[in-house]
Amino acid sequence: MAMEMLGYAKWWLRSFFGSKAPLVNTLIIHYGCNLRCKHCSIHSSNIEHLGKNKLSYDEVVNDLRSQFKRGARIAYFEGGETTLWEDNGKDLGDLIKAAKDIGYKNVGYTTNGTQRMFTGSDIISVSLDGPRDMHDTIRGDGVYDKLMDNIANTDFTGAIYANMVINKYNLDLIEETAKVVKDNEKLTGIIFNFITPPPYDIALTNDEKKKAIAKIRELKKNGHPILNSKKGLELLAEEDWSKKCPYYVTVFVLPDGTHKDGCPMAGTDSCKECGFAAVREYYLVKRGNPFTITEMSSIFAMSKK
Ligand SMILES: C[S@@+](CC[C@H](N)C(=O)[O-])C[C@H]1O[C@@H](n2cnc3c(N)ncnc32)[C@H](O)[C@@H]1O
Ligand code: SF4
Repeated sequence: MAMEMLGYAKWWLRSFFGSKAPLVNTLIIHYGCNLRCKHCSIHSSNIEHLGKNKLSYDEVVNDLRSQFKRGARIAYFEGGETTLWEDNGKDLGDLIKAAKDIGYKNVGYTTNGTQRMFTGSDIISVSLDGPRDMHDTIRGDGVYDKLMDNIANTDFTGAIYANMVINKYNLDLIEETAKVVKDNEKLTGIIFNFITPPPYDIALTNDEKKKAIAKIRELKKNGHPILNSKKGLELLAEEDWSKKCPYYVTVFVLPDGTHKDGCPMAGTDSCKECGFAAVREYYLVKRGNPFTITEMSSIFAMSKK
């Protein structure tokens, strides 16, 4: 663990002195998905029909290698539904193994939890948008029970955390959702985000966001396992990140093979209503906020061994 911390400290020091090397490599491996969630930006943008929508195994491995050379030490697989990705007999498990073999210290993926869980990563982020009825309203009938069964039956030994996207549907169910996580011994904690439009019709007003943040802070104080840092929660109320976005902390590769240092939404209207918690935490890490670094690193940066 000391060696891992040293590696991250080196990245931070280099970045303090002007290096723009990424720490995190986020790979959107494909846009394919078995669900059509009501809040999903990918689904609402109809992005599946925009040309090439899947990275091949070789493209992923080449990208993992080249970003590792630039300095990235955390690899994160995103989708579409990551667990459905395949290429000539290779699946998500092969991508996780490739990232580990190359030397990434922390490897994770996000999933809707309806398929089998791949166990080779250090962390798994599962989407949880409310207790059963609300989760199914947003994601489809039976999705909550499948997710909970898969969490209960997985042999995975790393951290599984829940990712909630607060929107007009589930705004009043923050406490109930935090309780689902608190009562589930397999879940490490929950990270709260606000919807980043599109879609616009279920986006939150600034007042709604402030009330939600007050609620989340109260729950965190009362011992609910909330993973947003204290300062990160405060910053969730700030909507326009077009000027402050810590653009180089993470590099993205998109399914068509293009790279973006920083968020693929940079420069779009979405960027002015950014609800992604990670953006705030990256910003605080980049600025050397010691509390955020301590809170975040134990879960999101360390390997599980
Ligand atoms: C795009 S999904 C891909 C992984 C997987 N299919 C899933 O649902 O977890 C990654 C995360 O982005 C979230 N997400 C989707 N649309 C969003 C939006 N408009 N604003 C904020 N987060 C969003 C999802 O809820 C999920 O937690
Ligand atoms: S499961 Fe994930 S990628 Fe699929 S529609 Fe839902 S949020 Fe979007």
